[in-house]
Amino acid sequence: MKILAIDTSCDDTSVSLSDNDRILSNVISSQIELHKKWGGVVPVIAKRNHEEQIDFVIEKACKIARISLAQIDIFAVTIGPGLAMALEVGVKKIKELSQKFQKKVVGVNHMVGHIYANFSKNSNGKTYSGLSNNQSFPLLVLLISGGHTEFVLMKNHMDFEKIGQTLDDSVGEAFDKVANMLGWGYPGGPIIEKFARESGGKDKFNFPLPMKDSKNLNMSYSGLKTAVLRIVKEVGAESFPKINELEITDPRVTISKKPFYNVDRKTAVEIAYSFQKAAAFSLAHKLDFALEKFKVSKVLIGGGVSNNTFVRNILGKTAKEHNAKLFYPKNKKLLTDNAGMIATAAYYMASKNQFANTKYLDRDPSLSF
Ligand code: KG4
Ligand code: ZN
Repeated sequence: MKILAIDTSCDDTSVSLSDNDRILSNVISSQIELHKKWGGVVPVIAKRNHEEQIDFVIEKACKIARISLAQIDIFAVTIGPGLAMALEVGVKKIKELSQKFQKKVVGVNHMVGHIYANFSKNSNGKTYSGLSNNQSFPLLVLLISGGHTEFVLMKNHMDFEKIGQTLDDSVGEAFDKVANMLGWGYPGGPIIEKFARESGGKDKFNFPLPMKDSKNLNMSYSGLKTAVLRIVKEVGAESFPKINELEITDPRVTISKKPFYNVDRKTAVEIAYSFQKAAAFSLAHKLDFALEKFKVSKVLIGGGVSNNTFVRNILGKTAKEHNAKLFYPKNKKLLTDNAGMIATAAYYMASKNQFANTKYLDRDPSLSF
C-alpha cells in the first residue's frame, strides 16, 4: 500500500511517501527563518509559504521515493491540531489529489502522528525507535511538543485515552518563551539546550518544579516561566528590538515590540540550565507517578521537546527505575513536525478502514484525542 502524506500544521511544509509503515521519503521544508524575526509563527506568513512550497515538496518526495502520484493508493493529511490557515493548505491539496486520482483519503490527528513516529520503519523494515513488530499493549505515551504536553494511554492501535495534560503552557512553549525573554529568538528549545550544555551542570537558580506534589497527571508550565522571568528581570537590562532589525516587509503583519533582557552570557547559561532542569524534572516526576499507577513496561515520547538529550536522559532514568524502557525514533526528522509520522499513522488507520469522506474533510485546529 503506497501512501502519500502531507503535514502543514505549523511552520514546516512536509510530504512523505511510504510503503505501508516503511518510510520511503520524508521531505521537510522549514519556514523557521521566515518566522524567527517575529519570535514565533505568524499564521498568514505560514499559509503563504506552504502554498508556495507544497507542489515542489510533493515532487521532491515522489522523486526520492521513485514513485509517481498515479501509483499512490492512499492520500493522507494532517487535519489538526494546528494553525487553521496552515492546515487548510494541506487539506486542500490532498482533496485535489484524491479527486484527480480517485483514491481514498485518511485525515490524521497530528498528535497521533507524533505517537506513530515510534512505529515508523526504515527501508529494512525496522522501527526507528526499536519497538518490535508485534507490539503488546498498553503503552504509556508522553507527548511533549510546542503546542501540547499530554500523557496518553495507548490501549491498542488507534485506541487512546488521554490521562493528563498541561493546564496552561506546553513545555515546548515554555522553552520558546524563556528563549524569547533572553532575546534568543525562535524556536527556543534547541538554543536553550545548546547554552545549557555550557553550564557544567550547576543548578544555580533551583527553580520550583511545577505541580510536583499534585497527585494527578496534570502539568503546568506558566509558573516556571514566570519564575524565570523574575530572575531575568532582576539580572538583565531591558532592551527593545530595533524596528529596522526586524525587516518588516509584510504590511499584513503587525508586531508587538516585546522587550527582552540583556543578560551576561554566564548568567544566561545558568538560567538556561536551571530552567531546562526544572522543566525536565517536572516531566520526570509526572512520569514517575504515571508508571506507579499504570505499571507499563514501555514508554513512548513524541514531539519536538523529545529532541532534548537532557530531557530524554532524565525520562529514560525514571522509566528504568520502574523497569520500563523509554522509546523515541532515532531519526531527527521523526522527532519534530514531519509527514513521515502522518504516513505511518495513516497506514494503521487505513488498516482499520478509518477513511474520511472527502466531501466533508476539513481542518480541525483544536482536534484532540
Ligand atoms: O513537535 P514540534 O516540532 O511542533 C509542534 O507540534 O508543536 O515541537 C516544536 C517544539 C518547540 O517548542 C521547540 O522549541 C521544541 O519543540 N524543541 C525543543 C528542542 N527542539 C525543539 N525543546 C527542547 N529542546 C530541544 N532540543
Ligand atoms: Zn508537532
